[in-house]
Amino acid sequence: NSGTDIQIDQRNGRRLVLLPLPLQGHVNPMIQLANILHTKGFSITIIHTTFNSPDPSKYPHFTFHFIQEELTETEASTADIIALVSLLNIKCVAPFRDCLSKLLSDVSEDPIACLISDAIFHFTTAVSKGLKLPRIVLRTGGASSFRIFTALPFLKEKGYLPTQESQLENQVVELPPLKVKDLPVVNSRDPESVYDLLVSMTDGTKASSGVIWNTFEELEQSALAALRHDFSIPVFPIGPFHNRFPSSSSSLLTQDQSSISWLDKRAPKSVVYVSFGSVAALNVTQFLEVAWGLANSKQPFLWVVRPGLVRGAEWLEPLPNGFLEDLNGRAHIVKWAPQSEVLAHPAVGAFWTHNGWNSTLESICEGVPMICMPCFTDQMANARYVSDVWRVGMQLENGLEREKIESTINRLLVDEEGEAIRKRILSLKEKAKLCLSQGGSSCQSLDSLVSQILSLEP
Ligand code: UDX
Repeated sequence: NSGTDIQIDQRNGRRLVLLPLPLQGHVNPMIQLANILHTKGFSITIIHTTFNSPDPSKYPHFTFHFIQEELTETEASTADIIALVSLLNIKCVAPFRDCLSKLLSDVSEDPIACLISDAIFHFTTAVSKGLKLPRIVLRTGGASSFRIFTALPFLKEKGYLPTQESQLENQVVELPPLKVKDLPVVNSRDPESVYDLLVSMTDGTKASSGVIWNTFEELEQSALAALRHDFSIPVFPIGPFHNRFPSSSSSLLTQDQSSISWLDKRAPKSVVYVSFGSVAALNVTQFLEVAWGLANSKQPFLWVVRPGLVRGAEWLEPLPNGFLEDLNGRAHIVKWAPQSEVLAHPAVGAFWTHNGWNSTLESICEGVPMICMPCFTDQMANARYVSDVWRVGMQLENGLEREKIESTINRLLVDEEGEAIRKRILSLKEKAKLCLSQGGSSCQSLDSLVSQILSLEP
């Protein structure tokens, strides 16, 4: 979607420079935000790493500049995502500063109103300060998980961190309904680096001129209220972004359209859609439990097995011979799916997800109940909110066993318990629609954001 089919307000003579974090779950919302702000009259310049770049030819209405982050082949891997992101925060400093200062001195273009940086690129705090350019951040995750990130130093003081194996099931009494195992440092090989990165991100956010969220007031009211109270900067929940602009054009992998033709042949609400996002990985034992749990559930399933999902395997080799054939068309496996369209398809009855924020929000917006299997950082908190606060999904907790998978799928797809969950998520879906209608909370917040940007001194 180029944005050309949307009513575009008059050009306002201001340019915005956007810096996405080059990972799928971050590029999608930043490109969507770029489209949203373009319809509000801003010219858009995107500074991107050469690593994981979206295709600029899909966005003729934006200007792209590429910076050479110079990652080696080993470094340019998502196998250790925290190491990659920490390294990008170092390697991007000089090339980004050079690129931005050239843009600032170019008088032939509209004047730059501000930088909009992914919140995880905390290095941009110092760069924008040095160049005297106002900086707004986009936090692509949820507000509830971010609220937990801001509490990390306090939780350390209270003795929750470093986490102890024996306490993982305990409640974090100061942050209900969170359990210790939901904290973002859990499941990491280097919890201290996660802690440092998240504290730098929240500090960099506090130091900004405002923060944009891909969420909506009615979903995360209490977290947003707490953040407004704790941060002395404006907070703009203007999501869900993908309901204004689909994310298919910024997909870094080719989306297999056979997913849709396969779903077309299925009964309404009968299919489990399974995807663990763009980064999470499983070992072979876990992968086989997932496969057998799905097969034994007797329900049809569409499964995204991204190359790289199974550690040490190219793609589907760990599956037993004849696994798919024995399911007689009840299963379809693809490398990458057009996820938004899949979730909107009437045949999809449940989404087994890792609870990356985009997937969580996309599922809510389509009213698809979730089976939650969070893997790292914000995903555990997202899953806890899905299962215990919004009560629109069930968690697969304490190990991945085929019997538990089979029973969870059937509880959600077939049992009454699942029906109640479906009703609740359909009501959230309605709220997600309403907030984007005229006078809705996200529309109002977007107007405030535009006024805030226009009030910044170029
Ligand atoms: C990463 C982090 O892992 C997560 O914790 C954070 O909240 C966001 O960034 P990721 O694994 O990329 O998440 O998942 P998610 O946030 O759900 O984003 C994935 C995006 O890829 C979604 O927009 C989804 O629609 C898209 N997708 C996913 C596809 O287009 N096809 C697929 O087959 C799977």
